[in-house]
Amino acid sequence: MDRKTDRFLADIEENLLFFSEIGARFLLKEASPPSVEERILNCQKCPLASTRTKAVPGEGSADADLMFIGEAPGRDENIQGRPFVGRAGQLLTKIIQAMNYRREDVYITNIVKCRPPNNREPNREETEKCKDYLFEQIANIQPKVIVTLGNVPTHFFIPSKSGVTTLRGTFHPFEEILVMPTFHPSYLVRNESNRLLKKMVWEDMKKVMAYLGKS
Ligand code: URA
Repeated sequence: MDRKTDRFLADIEENLLFFSEIGARFLLKEASPPSVEERILNCQKCPLASTRTKAVPGEGSADADLMFIGEAPGRDENIQGRPFVGRAGQLLTKIIQAMNYRREDVYITNIVKCRPPNNREPNREETEKCKDYLFEQIANIQPKVIVTLGNVPTHFFIPSKSGVTTLRGTFHPFEEILVMPTFHPSYLVRNESNRLLKKMVWEDMKKVMAYLGKS
């Protein structure tokens, strides 16, 4: 190194020392830890990591009052990396809009973030390995109400021998949050001609709207 370069480097060192001494940390770019969504995208905690196309962290408002939680990504979600984008998702979007929200006003996610092969129910290991992500999302967002869609997410929050048919329609406390179980939209899609099911979901959502001052 020539003397000019030497002097130049010494000056930089001296300045950095000075800035650090006076606490000017903004000059020393600190690496921020990866967000929960980024960690989900790279997760290798369970065998679903090797069969998924894309992990599906969830999407919506970071400070939503209302959170919808499904079971696990399906075929379309696995391809797109977004929750509830298939037929059941289109119905969920309609329900959200009927409640006077936009999809981006609420937060939508699942109990497990990767698709189980052939759309089977997530097993205990997968749910256990994934649950801290969900708890972290809930702690970050702090929703007032969580709507659980179908038996799997309902039993995650409300351990019970009863199914969603019995548990739906009433609020169940989970810490500071109220959980409202209702039918999964894919159940409604599979039973399209059964208007009573749609009516029951709407009754449940009206209770959620009333609690959130949305009616
Ligand atoms: N079913 C679910 O439970 N979650 C999705 O994201 C899509 C379908």
